[in-house]
Amino acid sequence: MQTPEKITILYTVETDASGAARRAAQLFVETARLAVSERGCARIAISGGSTPKPVFELLSDPSGPWRTQMPWEKLEIFWVDERCVPPDHPESNYGMTREALLDRVPLKPEQVHRMEGELEPEAAAERYESRLRASFRLKGAELPCFDLIALGMGSDGHTASLFPRTRALHETSRLVAANQVPQKGVWRLTLTSPVINQGRTVFFLITDGGKAPIIHQVFMGEQDPEQYPSQLIWPSNGILSLILDESAAALLPSADGNGHGVLERER
Ligand code: 6PG
Repeated sequence: MQTPEKITILYTVETDASGAARRAAQLFVETARLAVSERGCARIAISGGSTPKPVFELLSDPSGPWRTQMPWEKLEIFWVDERCVPPDHPESNYGMTREALLDRVPLKPEQVHRMEGELEPEAAAERYESRLRASFRLKGAELPCFDLIALGMGSDGHTASLFPRTRALHETSRLVAANQVPQKGVWRLTLTSPVINQGRTVFFLITDGGKAPIIHQVFMGEQDPEQYPSQLIWPSNGILSLILDESAAALLPSADGNGHGVLERER
């Protein structure tokens, strides 16, 4: 996997969180449809937390434009990360997704690749890595190439479950890591940064004015991935997309009349 010297960050600014969620739903559908037309299937990796939930609700809404446009029968869903809890636990990313999306759309169990948060973390990471190897038919050191990777960002600059000053930040040979997060007193499961950076379309969805400072720091400030792990996200194809609402984008250069902005970022 090559690491480009620079990346282009394309950001889209929507008026509010619901506008950003609609934009993200549109990206999910467009990316999935393109993937199916080019490769016969669409493999996406989704994050948890609170931000994506409205997007999943839009995708599953029978009265909305997206449910009918999504090629559900050709879609495979993976997770970017998971909390080390059972699937019915309130903290479970899978549990949130099941309620907002999976229980409302025509996906077969074999199309949904859950991280087994209920297992001992290291075993769960190894099992998910094996599942990725099988699903993507990987050989040797090959990395899976997801059609879409949907990320969020914490106000501490973490993404996925790559938290500041944790071991998984330095994991470059595994596909999936069990990551101890002392600042939260928990274990997490996470795709590693090389896998995320291999995505054909990698985007952050961030809709929270409280995150404007960290967005500025991550994308315009000093490079310090140990402190700001979202800076590890450096897609090998050189393009990183952001979908933001106005409050989250407040400290970025103003977007143009169409709500689009561009940042060039060098290593
Ligand atoms: C998780 C996510 C995590 C999330 C950020 C932002 O498991 O929590 O994958 O990386 O994207 O923490 O979370 P919010 O969307 O709740 O702000």
